[in-house]
Amino acid sequence: MENIKDSTRKKDACGQGGLELAKTMESADWMEQVRNLNVEHTLRTGKVRTFRLDVFGCQMNERDAETIAGMLTNMGYEQVAPDAPADIIVFVTCCVRENAEERVYGHIGGLTRECEERGSIIVASGCMMQQPHVLEKLKKSYRHVKIVFGTHNIHEFPRLLYQHLTSGKRVFEIWEKEGRVIEDMPIKRSERHKAFVNIIYGCNNFCTYCIVPYVRGRERSRRKEDILEEIRALAADGCREITLLGQNVNSYGNDLGEKDLFARLLYDIETIDGIDRVRFTTSHPKDLSDSLIRAMKECEKVCEHLHLPFQAGSNRVLQRMNRKYTREHYLALVDRIREAVPDIALTTDIIVGFPGETEEDFEQTLDLVRKVQFDAAFMFIYSPRKGTPAEKWEQTESQETISNRFKRLVELQTEIATGLAKRYEGRTVEVLVDGLSKTNPEMLSGRTRTNKLVNFRANGNLTGRLVDVEIIRAGAFWLEGKEGAGRG
Ligand code: 5AD
Ligand code: SF4
Repeated sequence: MENIKDSTRKKDACGQGGLELAKTMESADWMEQVRNLNVEHTLRTGKVRTFRLDVFGCQMNERDAETIAGMLTNMGYEQVAPDAPADIIVFVTCCVRENAEERVYGHIGGLTRECEERGSIIVASGCMMQQPHVLEKLKKSYRHVKIVFGTHNIHEFPRLLYQHLTSGKRVFEIWEKEGRVIEDMPIKRSERHKAFVNIIYGCNNFCTYCIVPYVRGRERSRRKEDILEEIRALAADGCREITLLGQNVNSYGNDLGEKDLFARLLYDIETIDGIDRVRFTTSHPKDLSDSLIRAMKECEKVCEHLHLPFQAGSNRVLQRMNRKYTREHYLALVDRIREAVPDIALTTDIIVGFPGETEEDFEQTLDLVRKVQFDAAFMFIYSPRKGTPAEKWEQTESQETISNRFKRLVELQTEIATGLAKRYEGRTVEVLVDGLSKTNPEMLSGRTRTNKLVNFRANGNLTGRLVDVEIIRAGAFWLEGKEGAGRG
């Protein structure tokens, strides 16, 4: 593990307000500097400066956004709604597929007027920024983007912001390599009753289609004690559900020289009072151990849901994807998990149209979907990513064939999910209430332990409570219910 000062940095400060001092001061000191500027501003104008966030991609990004919101709040900025005018607009970007990148460019491009009229500062961060061609494009064609940092130097945001505020220059700074794990950053959690907790950063797997290892670096685990301390503090603050995050949680502890540390972590979390539910994502099928399956069976707080991406059903494609397991291994794993936790809901990720995928290969994907019976699946059309091995591989099928396969897969999966959901009808399930339903504000909404979305009618504000809900109607994507007895 590296020390920050020693890590290879690629600095590209369009305007280096960059004092040597910058390197020795801590995030907290820079936050204080910016806070002082904001106090002066408020005294002068009577106004508090504001920020809003635009977050793309996965739960890691949502968690990173909470750190960025924490730093900004600490520096005296006030968060406003996603569609409200703001002095600082922060993008947390994703580059896992091309359409995510296109949407980011679209959103940033749409802000030129707000920047001109209001002087808003655009900050771009996250996975996309780790790619040199993206930086070039932002520099040349999106001149209203003033501050850029990447996935490895989020903690440097306060210094970059200070440099921009005091020099007016654009500040772009990216680290090519990951640094040490940084603890104790401020966090502004978006919800009180449930929280994301990082346990491992980065990925060592290099699936041939995937850009994540290039933009999020190698695996670095947090110390178990740091994780437990964070969860204890969350529990004391009223949090009831935690989701442990990592690109591959099953590798947790490997870089610390520990074996089976993830299973041990689950047993330790089990003893923390106040936490009712534990989830984790994502698991790689090649690393999911029997000791983890045992922990899932034995730890009552661990929810009956597992997200286990299989990506493709054909061994030939799996090999070309560098996934390091076979369909037989995956199916046997599913059997072992279901034997240990019979009611478990399984969800997955699937890629359609990987270079070289034939009709026969695709049939194997459909076959695996039929065999496993997933409660839900995230299905994607393959998107070539710059710098990955598969980017260079020839696409043998037409876009029409691939769209057609995608459609067939979605239809099959929807049919299966609808059928499986029916098992909930007439049953009473435990729901952790998230708040008002996004689709129907007359209803409340929450999740079962199996991660099914439930919309239901009830009286009063039950956000953050565990309630029993009787399911009256079940569809592929959500269940409808009515409140049974409350449980506090
Ligand atoms: N094209 C399409 N889907 C991808 N994923 C990752 N990289 C790509 C890509 N290049 C999908 C995988 C992964 C999920 C997070 O995104 O299914 O599990
Ligand atoms: Fe990407 Fe594979 Fe790592 Fe998942 S395990 S983040 S798909 S390289």
